Amino acid sequence: MSTDTATVRHIESSGAPDRFARGWHLLGLTREFDDGKPHGLEAFGTKLVIWKGADGNLNVLDAYCRHMGGDLSTGTVQGDNVACPFHSWRWGGDGKCKEIPYARRVPPRARTRAWTTMVIDGQLFVWHDHEGNPPPENVTIPAIPGYEEGEWTDWVWDNTLVPNSHCREIIDNMVDMAHFYYIHKGLPTYFKNVFEGHVCTQYYSGTTHEEAAKGLPIAVGVAEDQQTVSDATYWGPSYLVDKLWTKYGDTTFETILLTTHYPVNGSSFMLNYGMVMRKKPEYDDATNDMIAGKMLKGIGAGFYEDVKIWLNKAPIDNPLLCEEDGPVYQLRRWYSQFYVDVADVTPEMTQRFEFEIDTTKAVDFWQKELVEKAAQKA
Ligand code: FES
Ligand SMILES: [Fe+2]
Repeated sequence: MSTDTATVRHIESSGAPDRFARGWHLLGLTREFDDGKPHGLEAFGTKLVIWKGADGNLNVLDAYCRHMGGDLSTGTVQGDNVACPFHSWRWGGDGKCKEIPYARRVPPRARTRAWTTMVIDGQLFVWHDHEGNPPPENVTIPAIPGYEEGEWTDWVWDNTLVPNSHCREIIDNMVDMAHFYYIHKGLPTYFKNVFEGHVCTQYYSGTTHEEAAKGLPIAVGVAEDQQTVSDATYWGPSYLVDKLWTKYGDTTFETILLTTHYPVNGSSFMLNYGMVMRKKPEYDDATNDMIAGKMLKGIGAGFYEDVKIWLNKAPIDNPLLCEEDGPVYQLRRWYSQFYVDVADVTPEMTQRFEFEIDTTKAVDFWQKELVEKAAQKA
């Protein structure tokens, strides 16, 4: 017996977008780049060179020298400029060739692409816009209150390259309530999304598999007093700030977890993630740093569970959804604003949209499953 093909759902996929997203993209922590040497980084389908000049500025240029294609990231820093290893043309952070040591004059149009940079709380960003416009003033990255005052630990940081995946895969996570249970050993009890303008937020609270397996009643839809409470916001297409409150025993730890990425090319991306923890006054700095490091390790392990899925899944334009899935289509519409010209951004992409998932059935079913599994083990 063959299946009637007219009633079968087929996966549609129109392929990856033909450009990179418009927005601020985090390249890494400034501490990775400020040693007075040029650093190379593959991003946006090319290679970039990053260096700190004698003037203290961090600069980002296209790495391939416009003279004969030398790789500036394998050159040297000379004063404020970067010198190409091939014929020593000196390039300034503004993209202009400042000097050719063996030539009487620099060709007046000797100019390469300089990337607009921004430094916030020890993080280096570049602005990418397919149309070449500068960043609008209202599109920025929020600083962490109290970071400069030393209220938080130092960054603990890690990254991983995700090959054969478009970075839009990571965005779907924002609305994906159920995967927290199946992938991250969480049990969400409250889950809500709000999109507006270039900002997209996920409000999450929940408990853990371990806690739920104890069989104690779990409050549904209540945001406070859970094992994990999280407000996670994308500021633009690639920079996710997650304010997290995690309970261990009687102690709640407040952390800010960043999950950020930049496209390496059209089919792979670099995932950068890091964390600061609000220092506990009862501990010294080394202990606070150690706790933050441990927490990031656990969270990092969670990312690799996501990565495993991305590496094996198919891109899908038409996901088949049930009521307990979040607003995937609305989220993708929000995300699409970063892949069209500014003139083509429609109100549907940016207008306020809110959606809360009813977790009643899910919480009940998942807890039963966990309690049963625990009983089988005992
Ligand atoms: S290729 Fe860079 S100086 Fe010649
Ligand atoms: Fe995930």
